[in-house]
Amino acid sequence: MKLCIYFAVHVILMIIESEAGIKSTWHECGCSWEPWRSWSSCTRSCGGGRRQRDREVRVYDKCGHFTDCATNDMGFDFSSCNNVCYNGGTYSIYSCSCRDGWYGSCCQNEIDCGDPGSIQHGQKHGTNYKYAQTVTYTCDKDFNVTHGSTKIKCLSSGYRGYWSDSKPTCTFVNTCQSNPCQNGGTCINGYERYDCQCPSGFSGVNCENDVQPPLVENCSKDKFVYSHLPITKISWPTPNFTDPLGNNVKVTSNYQQNEYDFPWGDFTVQYTALKPSNGLRTECTFNITVRPHQCKALNIPANGYKVCTGWKKDYGLFCLQYCAENYTVERQYDLRQWYVCGTRGQWTTPGFMPNCTDPSMIQNSQFSIPFGEGKVDIQDKFLTSFKSSKFKYFCERFPTECVPENVNVAFNI
Ligand SMILES: *[C@@H]1O[C@H](CO)[C@@H](O)[C@H](O)[C@H]1NC(C)=O
Ligand SMILES: *[C@@H]1O[C@H](CO)[C@@H](O)[C@H](O)[C@H]1NC(C)=O
Ligand SMILES: *[C@@H]1O[C@H](CO)[C@@H](O)[C@H](O)[C@H]1NC(C)=O
Ligand SMILES: *[C@@H]1O[C@H](CO)[C@@H](O)[C@H](O)[C@H]1NC(C)=O
Ligand SMILES: *[C@@H]1O[C@H](CO)[C@@H](O)[C@H](O)[C@H]1NC(C)=O
Ligand SMILES: *[C@@H]1O[C@H](CO)[C@@H](O)[C@H](O)[C@H]1NC(C)=O
Repeated sequence: MKLCIYFAVHVILMIIESEAGIKSTWHECGCSWEPWRSWSSCTRSCGGGRRQRDREVRVYDKCGHFTDCATNDMGFDFSSCNNVCYNGGTYSIYSCSCRDGWYGSCCQNEIDCGDPGSIQHGQKHGTNYKYAQTVTYTCDKDFNVTHGSTKIKCLSSGYRGYWSDSKPTCTFVNTCQSNPCQNGGTCINGYERYDCQCPSGFSGVNCENDVQPPLVENCSKDKFVYSHLPITKISWPTPNFTDPLGNNVKVTSNYQQNEYDFPWGDFTVQYTALKPSNGLRTECTFNITVRPHQCKALNIPANGYKVCTGWKKDYGLFCLQYCAENYTVERQYDLRQWYVCGTRGQWTTPGFMPNCTDPSMIQNSQFSIPFGEGKVDIQDKFLTSFKSSKFKYFCERFPTECVPENVNVAFNI
């Protein structure tokens, strides 16, 4: 009876422990097992190991050879052990998930980026190279950071530590220390270089080149002079050439002095200043135009023609009056009279062309133009008269322009 109670207790225990592993013959054959033996040692000291224990399954020999009244695994038991993680790591299913900065199966190792090293021309500050630590750098005097970063931080990727940035490069910046800019140039520090801002007149890396041409003052403007004299003395201010840098300046001109006796005409005065020290030149050039005085426009006579020279009009103007056929001028006028715009800006007397009138008083018929005569005939007739007049020099002086086409004909008929 006592046995049966023992047995029943065991059955209950067994059912609780592992009903599945029991064979159907278990009850009949009086299977039982011994208590568990002690646990084996843990496979790992941390981070989740495994251990096991076993027990024997006993068989009463009442039914003979019942060696398999329980499945084999009923004799074994496993459990995890040492499921500890260090440094705040979290255990889960035989492994540790570590906090940032730690690694290893038990999070026992701290991430270390290692010494980032020193730099040239600068100092490193900080000696902790572990995860999340920072190291700073400073450059020596006269050196500035060009690459990398002055503050770097240890970061991690998995169990590998790396620095957030490359360490800085310290570059020499007090490049103007040697005062490289010449001739008053302003030096600007740069990274292992300098720039010279040159004052006007100088160029080059070190402002060593004199590129200042001579400066000119009092260069005359163009002159336009009316004169009644065939020769006119005209003067102008002498241009003053200087080099602001004080070098010698050599001046040449096409006129010896700052005045000259000019005839009517167009002239160019030119001064050239050469600075021999750099070969640069500056010119002062201006035109002088000398003209006889101009006259008011002459009237066109009624029933007649005003015929004038049409070339070089600003040097002089020579006109004749013609009357239409059967017209003439009053007795006190003479159609052979030349109208000349004189050098004083006045027409010669009478200063106007009288109207052609009064058909009954024809007396200068040789100047009357037969009706129907064309412009070309008038131009030819005029030029013939002009070339035999005392003003023919005006034709001889400008032979290519003294042609019929350049004779102006205006009429009022
Ligand atoms: C170098 O750094 C200093 C201080 O920040 C600054 O004043 C200077 O302009 C820098 N030099 C150059 C060449 O950038
Ligand atoms: C320019 O001309 C004016 C008038 O002739 C004179 O007073 C002045 O001194 C001249 N300047 C120079 C630089 O020669
Ligand atoms: C030209 O100008 C300079 C400075 O303005 C003066 O010293 C010099 O006398 C001047 N020369 C002439 C010819 O006017
Ligand atoms: C001077 O006259 C010439 C010819 O008429 C002209 O080509 C030139 O531009 C003039 N120069 C100046 C400075 O006015
Ligand atoms: C000019 O007068 C003459 C003689 O009186 C006459 O024959 C001729 O037709 C006149 N001419 C004109 C254009 O009137
Ligand atoms: C010539 O005739 C015009 C009208 O055709 C007249 O206005 C002018 O005053 C006259 N000239 C003379 C000098 O008589």
